[in-house]
Amino acid sequence: MPNSVLIGAQWGDEGKGKIIDVLTEDVDIVVRYQGGGNAGHTVEVGDERYILHLVPSGILREDTHCVIGNGVVVDPLTLSEEIRELEKRGFSLCGRLHVSDRAHVVLPYHRELDAGRENTSDENSKIGTTKRGIGPTYGDKASRRGIRMGDLVDENTLDEMIIERVDENNRVLAAMGAQPVEAAEVVTSYREVARFLAPYISDTVSLLHDAHADGKSILFEGAQGTMLDIDFGTFPYVTSSNATSGGACTGTGIAPNAIDRVIGVVKAYTTRVGAGPFPTELFDEAGETLSREGKEFGATTGRPRRCGWFDAVVARYSAMVNGVDLWAITKLDVLDSFESIKICVAYDCDGKRLERMPANIRQFERCRPIYEEMEGWCTSTREAAGYDDLPAAARLYLERLCELSGGELGIVSVGPRRASTLRIAL
Ligand code: GDP
Ligand code: IMO
Ligand code: MG
Repeated sequence: MPNSVLIGAQWGDEGKGKIIDVLTEDVDIVVRYQGGGNAGHTVEVGDERYILHLVPSGILREDTHCVIGNGVVVDPLTLSEEIRELEKRGFSLCGRLHVSDRAHVVLPYHRELDAGRENTSDENSKIGTTKRGIGPTYGDKASRRGIRMGDLVDENTLDEMIIERVDENNRVLAAMGAQPVEAAEVVTSYREVARFLAPYISDTVSLLHDAHADGKSILFEGAQGTMLDIDFGTFPYVTSSNATSGGACTGTGIAPNAIDRVIGVVKAYTTRVGAGPFPTELFDEAGETLSREGKEFGATTGRPRRCGWFDAVVARYSAMVNGVDLWAITKLDVLDSFESIKICVAYDCDGKRLERMPANIRQFERCRPIYEEMEGWCTSTREAAGYDDLPAAARLYLERLCELSGGELGIVSVGPRRASTLRIAL
């Protein structure tokens, strides 16, 4: 398979994990390039269900190597738990999972700062984060106060680095009225986890370059989604990394000319977890049906996901900023019972028609969806084995989504399992 970047084109939870797992059949290496334990990627294999937070979703195919790239922020405690859990469930990871020595480490004070900022009484300043310490860790990276995985395994300097930073951050925590972190406890637990993780940590930039030079195929696994991207998303209601395809280069050390194509994953409708504007959000029976049929609860925090109709302005914008070549449209089956289905084709903002995503969050908050309506199909799509098995109305719906968004249809997913995947051009 050509080297491909797979991104979420909405607000996350598009079904990236499932599509990665399906495509991994044809690739040698899967690499995560941004985000951290805020991600929750669900893969169903047979009767087993796996939720991956840091380990790439390619790990469930025995011969595939998986890389956690330099752009990811790694909570070593979460990662070690995830490795142990996967090994308990029969997967062997040693020699197959590689963690970048340049990836930044999430420390307990990052989690406390994240939670402290979210626990404010000022409702307007809440982002609704996953409280996994993501924002503060990327903040320390940008302000050059971070600790990297390579430092974690350097016993000569680790203690000193931790003690100095705990001291500094405890002053901030105290000013917020939050509990301080105990430096000695952090040193002990991070030393211990460093010994466990040491065999996995390496120079993944060289590893990926060598693999590419040997003609191996690489699949770049995006986390979150385009509308949560720090630059292109609905700022400030975003995460703290570049979830868009450009992040695949800065987050791995692989150059743009080594990437052959971009795959955009979208749900056949839209969901969002956490705060921030969402023009097509539904508060009626249709929204409840999407939530119920789609089992829309966060894979990381268990929070109910907000649900709404497909937003083609978002998809078109995502196609543009990511350079989407092919779409993977997931969860078509969730729409099976609707007699009619709406698609947002543009926004009405203060009486003006907007075709493009505004940068200003206050303007975006005032956007109202302009809908077109299509007939539903009112039959199950779950048993379809090929694209032609889908009802005509479902095919028309999918074709309209691609026409409005730009890009070709590569995959349609009609259920969480591997078998419920209709491969068209992928
Ligand atoms: P990710 O974060 O993008 O990997 O997505 P999540 O795993 O957070 O959420 C997607 C959810 O939808 C998971 O529970 C998947 O098992 C499920 N899923 C994926 N594709 C389909 C599909 O085509 N139909 C249905 N009904 N569920 C799906
Ligand atoms: P996957 O990879 C959905 C959201 C949070 C919050 C905002 C910032 O499973 O698609 P953060 O903890 O990152 O600082 O929170 O981003 N968020 C996600 N929403 N899916 C995700 O990941 C998300 N990761 C973060 O809910 O609104
Ligand atoms: Mg998810």
